[in-house]
Amino acid sequence: MNPLSWIDDELAALERQQLRRRRLMRGGPQTARLSIDGRELINFGSNDYLGLAADARLAHAVAEAIRHEGWGSGASPLITGHATAHERLARRLAEFEGTEAALVFSSGFAANAGTIAALVGPGDVVYGDRNNHASLFDGCRLSRADVRVYPHADGERLASLLAESGGYRRRLIVTDALFSMDGDLAPLADLADLAARYDAMLLVDEAHATGVFGQHGRGVAEHFGVEERVHVRVGTLSKALGSVGGFVAGSRSLVEWLVNRARPYVFSTAGPAAAAAAALAALDVVCHEPQRRRQLLARAEALRSALVRQGWNTGDSASQIIPLVVGGAERAVTLSAQLRERGLFVPAIRPPTVPEGEACLRISLTAGHTEEMIAALLATLGRRPGEG
Ligand SMILES: Cc1ncc(COP(=O)(O)O)c(C=O)c1O
Repeated sequence: MNPLSWIDDELAALERQQLRRRRLMRGGPQTARLSIDGRELINFGSNDYLGLAADARLAHAVAEAIRHEGWGSGASPLITGHATAHERLARRLAEFEGTEAALVFSSGFAANAGTIAALVGPGDVVYGDRNNHASLFDGCRLSRADVRVYPHADGERLASLLAESGGYRRRLIVTDALFSMDGDLAPLADLADLAARYDAMLLVDEAHATGVFGQHGRGVAEHFGVEERVHVRVGTLSKALGSVGGFVAGSRSLVEWLVNRARPYVFSTAGPAAAAAAALAALDVVCHEPQRRRQLLARAEALRSALVRQGWNTGDSASQIIPLVVGGAERAVTLSAQLRERGLFVPAIRPPTVPEGEACLRISLTAGHTEEMIAALLATLGRRPGEG
């Protein structure tokens, strides 16, 4: 008797429901044209929003860092893993975000999970949007605080939940700033008002918005003018910044607390110093080339309007992430396969990443896409089937 035989049964069940995931293998760099299984496709499936993952300036920064600091970090940051590139990046991030301090984690996932679990515990309560990223949910669960999930972007429901929070020691509200599958923006001004009214901490994850939203590219909180009211700002180096890693920006005492209490920071090897060096180079691009984000958002708006004119449902998207909501998982998988046949990579997103019945194709636009690539997408999608 094989004690792992249940796994084959579960995988077969996933297969029957069209929910089994399989990896594709990319050959070559992450750019707007990518090679999958030896075939070249136009890539609408990356989070490399500013087109920096394969940028020569980042590659140069990485090569230099490796020359000076080597590749592996060799230990957690609290032992000997914290290198000069990490320190320089933390200072640069604090300057960029306009906060007292910042802390670099080995991933955005680790930053979210570790920070939430360091801020609340038993006897506390944490509130999260239903569509928050898995790393925020996992942080909530890890914390062992009571978890209250409110309907997507529903400030009223959150207010009524907060009104019952009197018995708790600490309150924390956590939200994506730009929802990773819906492409819409969290109502941050309302959340900041509620945090102030109920004496709650507010953590905002700008993973998909750093480098893209706001006049200076700091994200949705900057876009809405509420940065000062967000106590804990989380970001990732892995999306628009074209590198890998995560960060938290906030007060000096917050960062000092996380250095002492965020378990993924304390008990995991620091990310490569070279990844920090790449992110430093990317921040220079964010600061000196604002036209990248402006053009990206303008093109995204034009693409959304054209898709809606062609009868597609793009939900509440207001960003470079544009879902085509199609409903069933099978439908999404079929459509994605058809597009791939015709030279376009647009991933199908299925439960549990999105709720049951809300499967979609997730178009992710980047600064690397040309007008011609976008026109090819629109022409290939055509009118939504059933739209006459
Ligand atoms: C909203 C959000 N937060 C955090 C993360 C995790 O970031 P990282 O990929 O750097 O671990 C992701 C990744 O997809 C995300 O979508």
